[in-house]
Amino acid sequence: MTNLLPREPSLLRLDLKTSKKIEINHRRNKEKDHTELLDDCAKRFRYQDCKDEYWNPEAYSLLYATPLWEQANASQRVLLNQLYWVAYYSQIISAEIATIFYNQTSAAGLYGLNDFRGVCDMLDLESAQERSHINAFFTISEKVEEALFGERVFSYDMRNPYAQTMIFPDTNRLKNMWRSLQLRSFALLSSGSAFIASQYFTVRGLRTLNGKMVQQRLSQFYQKHPDQENAPIPSAISYYHYMDESFHFNSSCIIGHDVISSLPSPTPFEKLVGNMSIIGCQKDHSNFSAVVNGLFWYEPALFSPIYKILRSDIFSMGEREAKEMMSLCFCRENEAIHSSFDTMTTAIESYKKFLDPLDYVNQTNKNLSLMRKMNIEKYLQNNQRALTRFIAPINLI
Ligand SMILES: [Fe+2]
Ligand SMILES: [Fe+2]
Repeated sequence: MTNLLPREPSLLRLDLKTSKKIEINHRRNKEKDHTELLDDCAKRFRYQDCKDEYWNPEAYSLLYATPLWEQANASQRVLLNQLYWVAYYSQIISAEIATIFYNQTSAAGLYGLNDFRGVCDMLDLESAQERSHINAFFTISEKVEEALFGERVFSYDMRNPYAQTMIFPDTNRLKNMWRSLQLRSFALLSSGSAFIASQYFTVRGLRTLNGKMVQQRLSQFYQKHPDQENAPIPSAISYYHYMDESFHFNSSCIIGHDVISSLPSPTPFEKLVGNMSIIGCQKDHSNFSAVVNGLFWYEPALFSPIYKILRSDIFSMGEREAKEMMSLCFCRENEAIHSSFDTMTTAIESYKKFLDPLDYVNQTNKNLSLMRKMNIEKYLQNNQRALTRFIAPINLI
């Protein structure tokens, strides 16, 4: 008979404080799970029922504080408020499709060590929740765009996790291919290295930090609503989603910051991959947008959807009028541009704090040097150049 030796307890099992944190975060998330409520919201949503109401605090409206907003009437402002919801959560869908996949590959990387079942079970629950979040966001966005435009504006068909995470990025075909290759490589590497897997959660934590700032405000609309039972369903979705996400943010912090000390020291290659993934995140977050304050979209990529909105029945603008309005909103300093840039600056400072305790992170990443290269002057120049190109065909008509 073979004498089986007990498996050596891992550093994670010996780290009672971190093990406890994982167990508590998973248990509480399971107890409070908002999946059923979100699925029910998606089933009950009828645009007709809440088409005349705000769904977010007023400042969370599309193009808020731009010249367009200033001249919009009350019903146009309501639609801009609802379209912020549609645009914002269309971006979140893309981020969460990627999250589901990298939760799995990273869980595979961590499961290669003893005693990581708890971490993996926690991530399984989060992935299932993301699928319900995505379903709710898709359902509302598609119904609204169908009713308002009869076509897609911000929403899109289901996509795979190798697509650009930012749905309106500064990109071209070559950049898309390069990003897809990087994402594929990261998936392979994270599934085979516990360190790289754990550092996916640092990147996920960074991405969530900015989301947390915005989503907390969006969730307050429902939380403070005087008649929650009759509050617009999208506002309830913002609230339930934020509740689930607060547990996801906790797990990013626990795995990215605490579990890392229970792992074998990283090799130079693993450190390099960890830093490269943070640089990728910086690249994704190196623009700001006055269309959707709080997202790092590349403004020129939004010219097409904004033009569509200005020409639609909502604003009924002619070609020239629409073009002039876009020039006013995107090429001249206004309150919206300053406010979106401030949001980016706040994000940079919070990212800095988040990365500070991690020894392996290099100075470019610790200082968020890539993100800091963006400023208002550069934003205006980019827009001016791109708008000239965008409106050229219109002038020829
Ligand atoms: Fe989510
Ligand atoms: Fe999440």
